[in-house]
Amino acid sequence: MIETTLTVRTDAPIGTISPRLYGHFAEHLGRCCYGGLWVGTKSHIPNYGGFRADVVDALKALPVPLLRWPGGCYADHYHWRDGIGAPDIRPTRLGMSCGLQVEDDNSLGTHEFLALCRMLGAEPYLAGNVGSGSPQELCDWLEYCNSSVNTTLVRERRANGSAQPFAVPLWGVGNENWGCGGNYDVVDYAREYRRYATMLRHVDAKAELVACGFNDEWNIEFLKTNARHLGLVDHFSIHCYWIKGGPETEFSEEQYYTLLAEAQATEDLVIRTAGYLQQVPDGKRIGIALDEWGVWHPEARPWGPDNAIHREPITYEQAGTLRDALATAIALEGFHRQCQVLTLANLAQIVNVLHAPVMTEGESMWVTPTYYALQLHTPHIGQTALPVDITHSVSAGAGDSSIHAVSATASRHEGGTAITLVNRHYDQPASIRFTAAGSHVTQALLLTADDPRDGNSAQHPDRVKPRPLPVQADGTGHWQVDLPAHSLATVVLAD
Ligand code: AHR
Repeated sequence: MIETTLTVRTDAPIGTISPRLYGHFAEHLGRCCYGGLWVGTKSHIPNYGGFRADVVDALKALPVPLLRWPGGCYADHYHWRDGIGAPDIRPTRLGMSCGLQVEDDNSLGTHEFLALCRMLGAEPYLAGNVGSGSPQELCDWLEYCNSSVNTTLVRERRANGSAQPFAVPLWGVGNENWGCGGNYDVVDYAREYRRYATMLRHVDAKAELVACGFNDEWNIEFLKTNARHLGLVDHFSIHCYWIKGGPETEFSEEQYYTLLAEAQATEDLVIRTAGYLQQVPDGKRIGIALDEWGVWHPEARPWGPDNAIHREPITYEQAGTLRDALATAIALEGFHRQCQVLTLANLAQIVNVLHAPVMTEGESMWVTPTYYALQLHTPHIGQTALPVDITHSVSAGAGDSSIHAVSATASRHEGGTAITLVNRHYDQPASIRFTAAGSHVTQALLLTADDPRDGNSAQHPDRVKPRPLPVQADGTGHWQVDLPAHSLATVVLAD
């Protein structure tokens, strides 16, 4: 049994955990949008205006405070006018992303996506087309969505059913423009960004614009090239996929720790990027948009480590296990610690594709362990992040993958404190004593499984799900819980 002691500190609040850090990403890729979220109004599967009712209900309970759409790589092929107006006259286009080509009937377009956001209570984040679009096309989309001036485009929006502007707050100026979004050189993209952003600002000065970042070299050069124009950048996008953890389910103990270490290193990427952004002149604050993050297993990609085991054809679908849920919780610890510089984050992707919290197969729908990991963090959303000192711990794993066996994140809300604990150890339970303000427990839930390779499926939808966790109290602000190996738990305390 591992013994760990932790202290939740109230003397040095870190900042507010924006709901935007719990964002999601829906791309027209594989069965994420079509077949996952959207089945159309004529489907025999119960739906709300074309969106699967079971999926929407599960997502509402997650929750989903922010949703990015329509790509990904798909965004730089997407022409928004294809997705407005009467569905039966919308054109069928070649839907392209990540090497897939499909018939795309554009039945899920702007109005439908924004109706989904309203159902979910999510802020919309639209990714604009730079690679095959133009500044005018993106300006028109912005005007169509956000303007209330009585223009032809606004009249068209009204005729299509939305009298009020959609007020879409976030606009991406391209996606991965160093790669699928046009293979730009950084200086070319930086200049292109400046042109787009200048024009977009004229249409809606309040729209928050997201520039495409990449690696250190790109990021430094982008900021240098636009040094006199950084007022045009509100958020700077970086992506982080964990790819080194070996197979989705048949991983070794070493690969288990490798994935958890990779998840932890997401924070290092944020810190490094923040370092560049903090050096920009005139105190201009540019937030980091980690607008694609999560695990991408080798079965679901034809590139990167272990890709020889990829499945044919590539569907971008993978099995989700408890290991992925633990990795999620570890990443979220870093998001909370970096909440002063990380302004939004989107798990990739929301249904069926990659690190999905929700899966579908025909009429079946189930949620993955990652769904529960996210849901166990709900008490932290919108609250004040607090540091947690690990006063006594042991490490787990070996070599580069060595990590603290137990870690935690905490937050303060009106009238209480919440703490989420992760026992990362592969096979050792942990006895955890923690000090935190509170007089009694209002909620304590544990997520674990017999094996970190366990997950849910259409046949076994409830194999991995949270259960109550006993918490001992000594009445003086000291608490004690026993966490099984490979588990996570959230304890909510009231003052
Ligand atoms: O999420 C899948 C793909 O990963 C996205 O389309 C792209 O932005 C990234 O490379």
